[in-house]
Amino acid sequence: MRLDKFLADMNLGSRKEVKAYIKKGLVRVNQQIIKQDKYQVDEQNDQVYFDDELVVYQKYFYYLMNKPQGVISATVDDFEETVLDLFSDEDYREDLFPIGRLDKNTEGLLVISNDGALAHRLLSPKKHVPKQYYVEVSGLLTKQDEQACLNQLKIDGGEICLPAQLQILSTDEQTLTSSALLTLHEGKFHQVKRMMQALGKEVAYLKRVRMGQLFLDEQLPLGAYRPLTADELMLLQQTED
Ligand code: URA
Repeated sequence: MRLDKFLADMNLGSRKEVKAYIKKGLVRVNQQIIKQDKYQVDEQNDQVYFDDELVVYQKYFYYLMNKPQGVISATVDDFEETVLDLFSDEDYREDLFPIGRLDKNTEGLLVISNDGALAHRLLSPKKHVPKQYYVEVSGLLTKQDEQACLNQLKIDGGEICLPAQLQILSTDEQTLTSSALLTLHEGKFHQVKRMMQALGKEVAYLKRVRMGQLFLDEQLPLGAYRPLTADELMLLQQTED
């Protein structure tokens, strides 16, 4: 890989900026100061120093975000705030994207990465990676609703859902509201809201709490993100139905 690409990939500056640093003699490969931006580095074996600090090459980045309401699951948008707008300048990279989507008014677990292969595996309709949601609805959820979700619920437009597990957590006869966990094995547009609608309920609050074997870190404040730990990444990569 070219030396200027190596440094730009590690977010040390734009391609133009890192070329200037190289010219100035701020960059060393192993023991030698290198002044050619085209210089080829072996990112596995060469030791690259910027201003005498070792720069370790990292190809893929993985973050867990607790998405707040009011931001959209996109990379850029002319009008709306996106989940990538929540990144600090230091962590932001142009190749990051959210793996899967949550509606603007949905909160919770969102993985943000630049690993396209992982995204493909997690989102492939063939893989049926489970996604679990905590949902509050108006209306009283019943055992029949749990059964209906298991029995391939038909939602508006005639679409048939794969069997989904609804676990009722609470029902309140005074306020006529309920809360539940719903586990889906696919990702139809607005699926939780449409399934609840098919059951005669309306979603008042929705939060994703799990994707594959990865769980939302409830300590993470809304709008915050952090790198996945090595264990979390392993769980996500091993994800099976
Ligand atoms: N289902 C929905 O209706 N909305 C989401 O954001 C995710 C799943």
